[in-house]
Amino acid sequence: MGYEHILVEIDAPIATVTLNRPKVLNALSPDLILELTTALSELDADENVRAVVLTGGPTVFAAGADIGDMADRGPVDQLLRDQTGRWAPLAGFSKPLIAAVNGYALGGGCEVALMCDLIVAGETARFGQPEINLGIIPGAGGTQRWPRTAGKHVAMEVMLTGAPVTAQRAYEVGLVNKVVPAEMTVEVARRLARQVAEKAPLAARMAKEGVLKAFESPLSEGLASERKSFYFLFATDDQKEGMHAFLEKRKGSFKGR
Ligand code: HXC
Repeated sequence: MGYEHILVEIDAPIATVTLNRPKVLNALSPDLILELTTALSELDADENVRAVVLTGGPTVFAAGADIGDMADRGPVDQLLRDQTGRWAPLAGFSKPLIAAVNGYALGGGCEVALMCDLIVAGETARFGQPEINLGIIPGAGGTQRWPRTAGKHVAMEVMLTGAPVTAQRAYEVGLVNKVVPAEMTVEVARRLARQVAEKAPLAARMAKEGVLKAFESPLSEGLASERKSFYFLFATDDQKEGMHAFLEKRKGSFKGR
């Protein structure tokens, strides 16, 4: 499928998806969201792709949902088009997803970054939830993922003041994995993606599932689920390959089977 608002580059085993509405700072219009979620569903199904980088390019990640599109809508319009529920293919993406963030990641844009598994931030990155300035609140997970990631008080500050935090502060509170010069952001994220893509894909999938489960279940349930995944992986070819490669002092070659 050809896309108008995003770019998709596959360089197996990784892919890069770039939000591409620079004139409006990659504002997340319904068309862009549809293209992004469609592309992610396709990449999730593509066995040649093992990790994905999601970026907005060199100057901005995304300045949030398209305000022009939302300004005159009512609650029923919002419910019927399910503006916030449509992110399921992103939140439920089964492979490692790495955000490469330069410039503003605001509102829905910040929430998109929070749905990724790792975040590489350029020094110019600014993470914020300015919805309060518009008389609304975050609607794609911001109120839930910020406190789980950065703690209650940082989350409150970001939600209640609407002021963004710098890349460095985001790093200090655990929101971001690495801060790099802005011109390096995508490259560093791709390097990380390649590193992850070398690992056993089913193990990566289950490790991701396990970590996400920690946000959603009591410890005992999370541990039970982890145990089942752990045992399941002994049914895979990649477990045999990984352990025999170690014993034979060679590098494992994983097939995702
Ligand atoms: C629509 C947007 C936009 C947005 C920027 N633009 N953000 N259009 N929706 N979210 C447009 C501007 O109107 C302008 O278009 C162009 O992009 C450049 O923006 P400027 O404001 O001129 O740039 P600058 O002065 O550098 O300021 C950058 C900025 C500011 C601080 C990021 O644009 C800003 O505050 N944007 C809104 C951020 C925001 O409130 N996001 C939350 C949205 S609500 P023209 O045509 O004038 O050149 C949300 C809810 C999520 O995300 C719900 C779940 C999905």
